[in-house]
Amino acid sequence: MMKIISIIITYSIVLFFFNYNRTAFSRVIEENTCIACHKELGGKYVVPVREWENSVHYEANITCEKCHGGDPTSFEYIKNCSKNVHVPKPAEIPFFCGNCHSDARKMRQYNLRTDQLRLYKTSVHGKLLLESGDTNVATCVNCHGSHNILAKTNPMSTVFRLNVPRTCAKCHVNKELMEPYGIPTDQYREYVNSSHGKLLLQKGEKRAPNCADCHGIHGIAPPGIEEVSHVCGNCHAVTARYYSKGPHYSAMQEVGIPRCIDCHNSHYILYPSNALFFGKEKRHCGSCHAIDSGAYKVGQQIVRYIEEAAIEIERAKKMMKSVQRTGIDLSALKNSISRARTHIVEVLPVTHTLSPAEVLNYTNQVKTETLEVEKKANDILKELTTRKRVLKVALVLTHFIMILLFIKKRSLKNK
Ligand code: HEC
Ligand code: HEC
Ligand code: HEC
Ligand code: HEC
Ligand code: HEC
Ligand code: HEC
Ligand code: HEC
Ligand code: HEC
Ligand code: HEC
Repeated sequence: MMKIISIIITYSIVLFFFNYNRTAFSRVIEENTCIACHKELGGKYVVPVREWENSVHYEANITCEKCHGGDPTSFEYIKNCSKNVHVPKPAEIPFFCGNCHSDARKMRQYNLRTDQLRLYKTSVHGKLLLESGDTNVATCVNCHGSHNILAKTNPMSTVFRLNVPRTCAKCHVNKELMEPYGIPTDQYREYVNSSHGKLLLQKGEKRAPNCADCHGIHGIAPPGIEEVSHVCGNCHAVTARYYSKGPHYSAMQEVGIPRCIDCHNSHYILYPSNALFFGKEKRHCGSCHAIDSGAYKVGQQIVRYIEEAAIEIERAKKMMKSVQRTGIDLSALKNSISRARTHIVEVLPVTHTLSPAEVLNYTNQVKTETLEVEKKANDILKELTTRKRVLKVALVLTHFIMILLFIKKRSLKNK
């Protein structure tokens, strides 16, 4: 209260001077009165100013009145500011921000996209807000803030690549908030423990997806049936190509399964293993195909090729070890093993064709390399035996000569 009174006095004095000295006043109005007065008021009135001063809008000279309206040269607002400015209600916010951000003319010089509002309207959040008046959903300010808005490239921004999962989690781990919709609240927990989450959040590996890469940034929705393989395929292009060649892709188009996530999960995605081929557990082949069905047996054939190839590699590594301490150059063997390893990594995407013949193509390449290792190791062993034999003969000869010399020496001594 005291502050308000002191401000009224200050401005009364300024107004008093205005009548006598126009130049003194013009210096004052050079300052934005919204900012000046809110700063002067302090407390909760200054919080928006402080936040705004560190924001991307401050840098672009988007001052208070450009968002809120009102006259930034007026001193009259002390008693009735809220009547002269506009604070948007949640359902107005998208248009409030879109006012500039959908305007290509205003945004061109900043090289920013102008599709946020259009996409937002198509999102689950936008539809609920604008069609059902549901204010639990995210509007622009829930994801970006209202005054402390930063560029997406700023590591402190709520929408910086590594911070997006936490921004979505503000609402999506909240059981109470999600209760009426009957949707789970485990996406964040599952995501942070997945290969994707660990890669992005712990290793800072930006190739890994955050929530928005799979759901869309402003047009957020759970991916539709056919969309899933495209969403995953954006990054896993090779795998998706093999998948689309196989019978599962046509099944997915006809009956909706199996999508990538039916075998790999959507949020808790881990490194898959051969175990997926065995048994009836969720996501394993047997969960959809009877154990004695043709389809299941195709899987057994495929996994057998992979397991055999893996055994081949182990055997080749043992062979290499057995000749390791001879000091002979092993780089040719090492190269063969590393090529074999590459082929076995390449075979995993190929499994998505569900074609044993295609898989065999790759596992045969593994075998070619491991046979090469075997052959080379055997050559080395053979060469070694020959060398040993030569050495032995040489040794026997030396001994023989020494004995002769000894006898000779003896006979000389005796003489
Ligand atoms: C002379 C002082 C003064 C000036 C100048 C001033 N304000 Fe205010 N403003 C206040 C006070 C006091 C309040 C709180 C009382 C009220 O709501 O009227 C307030 C409240 C607000 C609110 C919140 C309103 C609400 O309904 O919650 C906004 C937004 C705001 N001001 C924006 C502005 C903008 C934009 C300008 C410049 C065009 C401006 N202010 C100029 C003193 C001022
Ligand atoms: C980019 C647009 C934008 C700019 C610039 C902006 N505001 Fe706001 N302001 C908002 C929005 C949006 C809200 C509503 C926030 C909400 O609902 O969470 C708001 C709310 C407020 C409120 C109400 C209290 C609150 O924090 O919710 C005050 C006071 C306020 N602004 C003052 C200011 C002042 C002073 C400035 C200039 C320093 C300013 N604003 C600049 C968008 C803006
Ligand atoms: C559910 C969260 C969310 C909502 C709601 C949201 N945004 Fe965004 N926004 C993001 C994320 C995440 C990014 C960063 C995208 C990136 O990394 O490319 C972003 C980026 C932006 C950008 C930077 C330019 C661009 O498009 O990449 C602007 C501008 C923007 N949003 C404006 C808006 C406006 C305006 C609204 C409301 C109509 C809005 N956002 C609603 C999450 C959201
Ligand atoms: C009066 C016009 C105007 C309004 C209204 C406005 N903005 Fe902006 N906004 C801008 C301009 C201009 C920039 C470009 C700043 C720059 O790149 O230097 C910007 C930048 C941004 C960015 C940073 C984009 C990036 O580089 O990643 C985000 C995010 C953003 N605004 C969100 C919002 C949100 C959310 C609202 C509503 C609360 C809003 N803006 C309202 C003009 C506006
Ligand atoms: C302000 C709270 C809030 C924030 C922040 C938020 N959401 Fe939402 N979200 C909701 C609410 C409420 C729903 C409505 C639930 C529903 O319709 O099932 C929803 C719905 C969704 C849905 C559809 C769920 C369904 O019904 O199948 C997805 C997907 C989603 N949000 C993803 C995200 C992502 C990704 C982010 C971050 C970029 C995010 N949300 C940020 C509140 C939020
Ligand atoms: C790798 C892609 C991917 C990532 C990353 C991802 N999601 Fe999802 N999300 C999906 C898919 C696919 C579905 C649809 C699941 C279905 O139809 O069974 C989904 C469904 C959802 C739903 C609807 C309810 C549910 O659980 O089925 C919400 C809400 C959601 N995700 C939020 C998030 C949030 C929040 C994050 C980040 C913490 C996130 N998602 C990260 C792919 C992803
Ligand atoms: C933004 C890119 C991106 C998207 C989208 C994406 N992934 Fe990934 N995914 C990666 C990266 C990067 C890795 C790490 C392994 C690598 O380098 O290939 C990975 C790894 C994996 C792995 C192996 C786990 C591991 O530990 O290596 C599986 C399985 C997987 N993703 C499935 C999916 C599925 C299913 C979807 C769709 C629901 C999906 N991914 C969407 C980038 C993505
Ligand atoms: C019918 C179940 C099933 C479907 C559908 C499926 N996968 Fe796989 N996926 C597997 C199996 C099984 C493996 C190999 C596991 C092993 O033997 O190690 C695998 C391996 C992977 C790997 C890790 C190996 C590598 O290539 O790095 C990724 C990534 C992957 N799948 C992504 C996808 C994507 C993307 C889709 C959708 C386009 C998809 N999967 C569809 C079962 C499936
Ligand atoms: C989520 C359910 C689901 C899972 C899990 C699944 N499939 Fe399928 N699969 C289908 C559907 C649906 C079809 C098409 C209808 C049919 O032929 O049974 C199909 C078709 C096939 C076919 C071609 C048809 C045939 O009989 O030869 C093969 C082969 C096959 N699956 C193998 C596998 C293998 C191997 C796995 C495990 C890696 C697996 N499936 C996991 C649902 C699934």
